[in-house]
Amino acid sequence: MYNEINWDGIDLQQPPPEEEPARQYYFIKLLKGWMDGIIKEKGRKLSCCVNTFGCQMNSRDSEKILGILKCIGYEETGSENADLVVFNTCTVRENANLKVYGRIGQLKKYKSKNPGMVIMLCGCMMQEKEAVAKIKRSYRNVDVVFGTHNIYKFAELLAMKVLDSEDSGKMVVDVWEDAEIIVENLPAERKYPFKSGVNIMYGCNNFCSYCIVPYVRGRERSRKPEDIVKEIEGLVKDGVSEVMLLGQNVNSYGKNLEEPLSFTGLLEKIEQIDGLRRIRFMTSHPKDLSDELIEFMGRSEKLCKHIHLPLQSGSSRLLKIMNRHYTKEEYLLLVEKIRKAVPDIAITTDIIAGFPGETEEDFNETLDVIEKAGYDNAFTFIYSKRTGTPAATMDCQIPENVVKERFDRLLKVVHCTTARKAEQYLGKISDVLVEEVNAQEEGYVTGRTGQNYLVHFKGDKSLIGSIVPVKLCESRGFYYYGELAGE
Ligand code: SAH
Ligand code: SF4
Ligand code: F3S
Repeated sequence: MYNEINWDGIDLQQPPPEEEPARQYYFIKLLKGWMDGIIKEKGRKLSCCVNTFGCQMNSRDSEKILGILKCIGYEETGSENADLVVFNTCTVRENANLKVYGRIGQLKKYKSKNPGMVIMLCGCMMQEKEAVAKIKRSYRNVDVVFGTHNIYKFAELLAMKVLDSEDSGKMVVDVWEDAEIIVENLPAERKYPFKSGVNIMYGCNNFCSYCIVPYVRGRERSRKPEDIVKEIEGLVKDGVSEVMLLGQNVNSYGKNLEEPLSFTGLLEKIEQIDGLRRIRFMTSHPKDLSDELIEFMGRSEKLCKHIHLPLQSGSSRLLKIMNRHYTKEEYLLLVEKIRKAVPDIAITTDIIAGFPGETEEDFNETLDVIEKAGYDNAFTFIYSKRTGTPAATMDCQIPENVVKERFDRLLKVVHCTTARKAEQYLGKISDVLVEEVNAQEEGYVTGRTGQNYLVHFKGDKSLIGSIVPVKLCESRGFYYYGELAGE
């Protein structure tokens, strides 16, 4: 673990070591010294702001960046008027992309007042050549661009910029096509003291025909089970009681390890970690969800009773073109099996409306699955054309007005089904991990049930981080009002 690092043992008179993570600690130490100088000169620490777009993978990556920044001595601020601003970008849909350009533009006003300000861009969008070309062309205020594969090199990239004695003002661009290695034991912050995301694998091999993730996150690589267990044990020691295991398709965990281990095998190891109370995972691809895992979900004491099982479409015809490798019937059978093994499990999903060639019949099949599967929640997306994916060049792209109309219908059906679903837990007592004081309502706190429902109830900040029984009294869609139940 990084807090065991022997800083005195790092000799800055020597050239940086080649091996990782030692090389990064060398640059962190170099930057620490630089920051000490600045504190003496300015009488304050430099501030930093890390902004995250996209999914939980990106959130976790941002925590790693923040971990390095804090280690160097930066002070975190919520404002983009900071000495260092990082945008960790997403490109899964076009609008995620557009948002970023707008935000980089807005930084101009801050940089003109603070010319020493450093702007760094990273994440999935930076893996796209066209995006980087556009940044180079039109956003000269950006200092450093790097991708998803070399995030561990953050300290080195920052050092290249701020310790450049010539200060050439040139943009540093370092984006890799793919990565073989996984660098362990670098610092990481976390947003909540009591829960944390934990990467178990990186990349994706599935190439669903609409999706850009495999192109920007590279091929699937699993972390070694002993590294994962060690990280979680460290987190538990540090006060964490809930972990969210992260991967684009956790069900194919372990296939590329020297000693292959199934996802269930990994879960069995994690289940045994003393002091860990709750385990979640995401995302689970229906095509790889094994009977072994379903059986484990039925008997595990720590796995939360929630599974996110993206459907994408209810039409077997479209699922084939999407390259999802399951049919409507197989998906529904899977849902049935899961519910049989874990009767009160919450099932959530992702759905895309307007995939190329989607007919009214295909769309109705999706609505049919929503009714039949009885989702607790569904994230709905309008299909977005991603350059380089097979779907982008398919015939029959659906006109905007048709998609919009379908999307509205989809939302209505989702709202009705999920509201109905939420009613079923009313009056029940659920264990809630208390996350924060409710900012909108004085005297209330907010937490999550194992099924991942949000619950607001009367309480104070002393409850934060604890798991308490709460009676679910009133349902408001995907959240409840509850009452702390007696011990
Ligand atoms: N690995 C996860 C999902 C990652 S992306 C999985 O397979 O489930 C999150 C969601 O974004 C996907 O489930 C999908 O519903 C949606 N999505 C991905 N590409 C999209 C696109 N081109 N247009 C619209 N939605 C998309
Ligand atoms: Fe994208 Fe499919 Fe991989 Fe999920 S499994 S990240 S949807 S390609
Ligand atoms: Fe976006 Fe990258 Fe996640 S494209 S959804 S941040 S893997």
